[in-house]
Amino acid sequence: MCGIIGHVGDGNALEPLLTGLENLEYRGYDSAGVAVQNGSGINVAKRSGRVEELKESIGDPIRGTVGIGHTRWSTHGPPTDANAHPHTDESEDVAVVHNGIIENYAALRDRLAATGYEFTSDTDTEVIPHLVQYYLDAGFDSEAAFRQAIDELEGSYAVTAMVSGEHVLYAARQGSPLVVGMEDGEYFLASDVPAFLEYTDSVVYLEDGDVVIVDQDGVEFTDLDGNPVTRPSETVEWDPEQAGKGEYDHFMLKEITEQPTSLAQAIEGRVDPTNGRIALSDFEPGTFDGIDSVQFVACGTSYHAALYGSLALNQAGVQSTALLANEYSVSAPPIDDETLVIAVTQSGETADTLTALRRARAEGAATLTVTNVVGSTAAREADDALFIRAGPEIGVAATKTFSSQAVMLTLLAQRIAGDLRGEPAADLETLLPELESMPGRIETLLDESDADLIAERYRESQSYFFIGRGLGYPVALEGALKFKEITYEHAEGFASGELKHGPLALVTPETPVFAIFTGQEDEKTLKNAEEAQTRGAPVIAVCPDDHPAVEAADEQLAIPETEPDLAGLLANVQLQLVSYYAADLLDRPIDKPRNLAKSVTVE
Ligand code: F6R
Repeated sequence: MCGIIGHVGDGNALEPLLTGLENLEYRGYDSAGVAVQNGSGINVAKRSGRVEELKESIGDPIRGTVGIGHTRWSTHGPPTDANAHPHTDESEDVAVVHNGIIENYAALRDRLAATGYEFTSDTDTEVIPHLVQYYLDAGFDSEAAFRQAIDELEGSYAVTAMVSGEHVLYAARQGSPLVVGMEDGEYFLASDVPAFLEYTDSVVYLEDGDVVIVDQDGVEFTDLDGNPVTRPSETVEWDPEQAGKGEYDHFMLKEITEQPTSLAQAIEGRVDPTNGRIALSDFEPGTFDGIDSVQFVACGTSYHAALYGSLALNQAGVQSTALLANEYSVSAPPIDDETLVIAVTQSGETADTLTALRRARAEGAATLTVTNVVGSTAAREADDALFIRAGPEIGVAATKTFSSQAVMLTLLAQRIAGDLRGEPAADLETLLPELESMPGRIETLLDESDADLIAERYRESQSYFFIGRGLGYPVALEGALKFKEITYEHAEGFASGELKHGPLALVTPETPVFAIFTGQEDEKTLKNAEEAQTRGAPVIAVCPDDHPAVEAADEQLAIPETEPDLAGLLANVQLQLVSYYAADLLDRPIDKPRNLAKSVTVE
């Protein structure tokens, strides 16, 4: 888990490298470093801590027209200065940044150490510069030495390297993302597009097995053996403004308030409310023929969206289950060629989810991913991809992508049910106009929300509970995850009916209960909320204004009236806001909660 950046051009590489690292910090932020090269060799600056601290520490700016940079989320070795990337060989002739895990690093390290190469860090990455140096010492030229070194690596990697005295970057990809950006003689290599979006929107996504050589004359795309490969160039539609914070203090708040737009983008052209049809022309007719059950695999927030999709599919009469991707290898139900496995992943790079997807493919299932990132590993490996079109999400806590995932999965559930049963289960003539109204309803909710007042009122509480039933249940889980993730306070989500089967023992006047009402057996959820209230817990009803719960509860977070299939999404926006304001009152680093990273590329 880490972010890497490389730059080749005319001017000083330092500025685009540092900008790139700032834009990539969501991938990890426990240490950062850069290496640039000029006539006098490779200069490295690296340290534990944030990119901001690295910037401050580079007092006398280092210069060079080619360079590499790295922002780290530790896997091998704690976040110390020595473990920060770039890593070099002893004489600083070779510098390397790496994202991924080198599984055979111990064997490589022992072999190199036995022949006199000295290691100074605890990382798996450090074997790479030594290995390149080993082949240089053996008389190989730089490109051949790089290829030889890459050939020996087992595991996953996106690697970028440079060799002293050359105006060239060498890069390779296997299992970790790497993308090339190009603009008028300036070239970038990065883990993700936002790294260089200020400079170019023209990109080429690399594939596993690719090795590229970048100099000022261009980029050579090859396989490991040096045979040319063709990779299409694409123009990304995100603009740098979209990837920046704009007027907001935090990306999270910006991304919460972007939901009217991101949802409108998600559904655009995919529904036709005038004739009650789901277009979803992302899929050919017949795509789902022969499927008799659906398994969703996902992690974290995406798992909650997957649960939402799975419930929608079950309610539409198609057998379906949502599984945690990291449990899949030990808990997967039987798979056959009539199983459709849907990997839900914002980044498309989550290692646990990719492993589950690969397992499903290997066992013969049809596969599909619901993702935000075009060109991501999941999008390239699954048989089909459905893009949620939410735009870049920079805050580590997922917000707008959850609502887009849930909406796309609601549509997908109806499309699959329609294909398999001949007719959709839901009354689309009601659901689709409601869906089209969602962006406007969220706009109103954002304007009128009292979430800040609720966060203030309950700021001294001991624990925070979230309950919901049916489609409100994944929203309760998501509400609790968001709350604990960014406030560091204890929060838990429960199915409403489960409260009385144990968790009620935790309920006190110090444990506010957020009760989510979606129009599915609300009377029972109200009873469950009252059971907590009787034990002293303040109840905050998340429901429309004329709902019976308003009278019974201590507080209300209002949501506009809508269909049960969609009400949970409105409730979720209110809960995102409560978490945001509660974390802000506690002065937490909202966009980068401790110990977390946006994209978890290790299992
Ligand atoms: C929580 C959060 C994480 C991710 C999870 C999966 O706010 O963002 O729980 O949802 O790591 O990531 P993706 O969706 O990229 O597979």
